[in-house]
Amino acid sequence: MVFGKVDGAFVERLRAVLDAGDLLLGDDERADYGHDETEDLVFPPDVVVRPRNTDEVSRVVRLCAEHHIPITPVGGRTGLSGGALSVHGGVALALDRMDRILSIDERNLQVTVEPGVITQVLQDAVQDKGLYYAPDPSSKGSCTIGGNLAENAGGPRAVKYGVTRDFVLNLEVVLASGDVIWTGANTLKNATGYDLTRLMVGSEGTLGVITKAVLRLIPKPLGSRLMLVPFNDAAKACEAVSAVFRAGITPSALEFMERDAIDFTLKHMEDIKLDVAPEVQAHLLIEVDGQHDDVLMRECETILGVMEAHGGGEVLFAESASEKDALWYLRRNVAVAVKAHAVYKEEDTVVPRYALPELLAGIKRIGKVYGFRTICYGHAGDGNLHVNILRDALTDAFWEKELPKAIREIFTLTVSLGGTLSGEHGIGLVQRPYMDIAFSPIQLQLMRSIKDLFDPTGILNPGKVLPEMIA
Ligand code: LAC
Ligand code: ZN
Repeated sequence: MVFGKVDGAFVERLRAVLDAGDLLLGDDERADYGHDETEDLVFPPDVVVRPRNTDEVSRVVRLCAEHHIPITPVGGRTGLSGGALSVHGGVALALDRMDRILSIDERNLQVTVEPGVITQVLQDAVQDKGLYYAPDPSSKGSCTIGGNLAENAGGPRAVKYGVTRDFVLNLEVVLASGDVIWTGANTLKNATGYDLTRLMVGSEGTLGVITKAVLRLIPKPLGSRLMLVPFNDAAKACEAVSAVFRAGITPSALEFMERDAIDFTLKHMEDIKLDVAPEVQAHLLIEVDGQHDDVLMRECETILGVMEAHGGGEVLFAESASEKDALWYLRRNVAVAVKAHAVYKEEDTVVPRYALPELLAGIKRIGKVYGFRTICYGHAGDGNLHVNILRDALTDAFWEKELPKAIREIFTLTVSLGGTLSGEHGIGLVQRPYMDIAFSPIQLQLMRSIKDLFDPTGILNPGKVLPEMIA
């Protein structure tokens, strides 16, 4: 697609539509807003705009539409599929200045936020009122609600409470024309017409720019128990996962980490200490939460029984808040530790949870055939396995030519098990060549038609989600 040019005259017009927001043109700033956490990719925009309100967003979008300039919405730049990369240059529309919590409605258990609010800031603000916003991506200290909405982010607690989409009631969106709409109503139920709210969540900035969100809250669970269970056999750990649910328990987190994930993280985060016996191959990190301590105790007993039956070793219970924090710190830093160690590619496979052992075995088999090492970890309770493929000493030729074939095999296996390409990281730039594995030409064409309807000239986050041949 051929876009308009960002020249001096366009920049001046852009500056003129901003009252309070700012505009960045420096090389360093452009490079800074031109990367997220996806591999080592950098695609600097021509200009960064940081609006302060919906009106400014609308005016920027209108101007870009007039000049046919691509717009890439940017949140906390923690994404892992390249959704925030300005692959066609143009305007990076950074929403980080729109970071207000506009209202917390304690009567209805709702909150209205701007997209630049950091996820953890929102969680802390509602927690002070005894309320809970559950979605908790590992990057919650720096990712934003806007980015979470764009990618339909998940995190460990999704297994009990649902992903970002499940907490969204209504969205204010700036359309590609610059018009501003609300997608639905601030109600828990809504059977009124097509569900534009759910369509917008996970659309990765390709259909509109989210400028406000009304989110659902729940009462804060009063207590939790957290345990770490070692396994000498990673397959057995995966088998234990679905057995927990079949035993009648829905944990608030059920995470899997294979041995290397823990070893890398312990090496990288020297402040955490954990003794892991040499024969241990994997761990499950399991949390239950709720309002009643006696219920939590009984749930833990049931889980212990399931673990024992599947070959789980001696369970480490976090006794204090700081021990819980340490275990979560360990788990949440796996991606950071792997990234610090080496270049890698991160896949976000997801299958029905009973198929998890088969998925893990298949990934290891494919790795062996092609000759690469993987570190697998993730939200096992959701059947969501993050697969980190390490660059190690692989050649450029292998990385560029052979590896995509292996990834294709991994995704083909995932889909054959009833799963799909991404559970929570999105498709963005790096997974789009594989969309044909999950969708038929008719399905992709339907998606293309939706894109064309919302964004007829293709200025909203071009080069993302839909595969190249139809993008
Ligand atoms: C995690 C991120 C990478 O689960 O999704 O840590
Ligand atoms: Zn994750």
